[in-house]
Amino acid sequence: MPYASADALLKRSILYYQGRPIGTAAACDDRPAAANYDECFVRDFVPSALVFLMRGEYEIVRNFLLTVMQLRAQQPVMPGHQRALGLMPASFRVVEEDGKERLLADFGELAIGRVAPVDSAMWWMFLLRAYVRSSGDAAFAARPEVQLCMRQTLELYLKESFEAAPTMLVPDGSFMIDRRMGVYGHPLEIQALYYGMLCTADELLEQHSDNEKLRQTITIRSNALRSYVRLYYWMGRDRLNEIHRYHSEEFGIDARNVLNVYPETIPDWIDGWLCPSSGYLVGNVGPGRIDFRFFALGNLLAILVGLATDQEAQAIMRLYQHHWDALVGEMPLKIVYPAVSGSEWRHLTGSDPKNAPWSYHNGGNWPVLLWPFIGAARRTGRADLAERAMFELGERLCQQNWPEYYDGRRGSLIGRRANYQQVWSATAWLIADELMENPASGALFDQFWFS
Ligand code: GLC
Repeated sequence: MPYASADALLKRSILYYQGRPIGTAAACDDRPAAANYDECFVRDFVPSALVFLMRGEYEIVRNFLLTVMQLRAQQPVMPGHQRALGLMPASFRVVEEDGKERLLADFGELAIGRVAPVDSAMWWMFLLRAYVRSSGDAAFAARPEVQLCMRQTLELYLKESFEAAPTMLVPDGSFMIDRRMGVYGHPLEIQALYYGMLCTADELLEQHSDNEKLRQTITIRSNALRSYVRLYYWMGRDRLNEIHRYHSEEFGIDARNVLNVYPETIPDWIDGWLCPSSGYLVGNVGPGRIDFRFFALGNLLAILVGLATDQEAQAIMRLYQHHWDALVGEMPLKIVYPAVSGSEWRHLTGSDPKNAPWSYHNGGNWPVLLWPFIGAARRTGRADLAERAMFELGERLCQQNWPEYYDGRRGSLIGRRANYQQVWSATAWLIADELMENPASGALFDQFWFS
């Protein structure tokens, strides 16, 4: 029974600190692919938390939110600079020293590749809102320390930099794709999370005169971000034609090709791939650059947080329908399409063997992506696609012991270095299963606001 198996895995993964549940381990595999999979990752805890919230088990989620908030104080001083308090850890673990329990956080200084987890604080905000919505505990968000934490986070995430666009600039691998994959710059997933974070803050920051200026900044930034993403990231037939016929080297205020993208950068695979009624948000946009790859989580989050318009959301779901084999395949869902190979793979990944073509982050299929997919299908009224993705899926995942990811163009092979007993593979299925049974349960992460 997949339900019992997923539920048992979730229960086994719970981490306790001083007798209280505070999070869940990323995997319960006896031979994990890396030493830190027994830690609680902030982003991995999100689907665990949604399951707990759907069941009315609020305590562990509240403890987690407080724990991560307090762990900010453990930030190490990085060579040459002190990071702002708004940064949240990628993961944490409970250790025992001299018979005493201690919490140890990792802000990326221990992680492979030393990546800064830019997405952690954004997922924390996402969860804070889901917690308040589901439990009704608005007093928690109103606590002075939670309000202070939100303000410090926003100060960091709204800081002036050298940007010419309202999107957020991040290094490679600073979110779910946490290895080099050519996702530096302005990746879509970060922009969708950023938009969600700004909207959450607008909802949960106290109506207080001290917050007025911050609120104004939030409104201006989120409006600009939404318009910018809708204009520059959207890719449909019309937009593709426009780019195909772009003039380049335009100077001044009348320029149409403002980012100076050369039509020659349009990849071959996209010709004929986009049918007229479908479209998607591209992976990354910057000066002279459009990354045309399709990133699943960014697109699905854009639907869930209302960054995509209703028509765009429908067009994205139609893209899934038309390219089911490529984007869903045998195991929902493909993390990015297409994979990079050859010299592109060497340059973009630094010849990373774990990210070989059609594996892991480079075109692997990840069961965790099921929850945002079913959530997006629910929001767009595409129950048919949700049912198709879920068909006999639980049985397979359970039989194969909840792998972390799958390999191959159609995702038919268990990932070469995938963990078994990967907790977010099980929790994503539990959420999806609950959404199918009881669509109203999705209200806890329903669309944000200023659409
Ligand atoms: C891998 C994934 C990352 C995840 C972690 C724990 O590093 O890339 O997104 O949080 O494993 O599952």
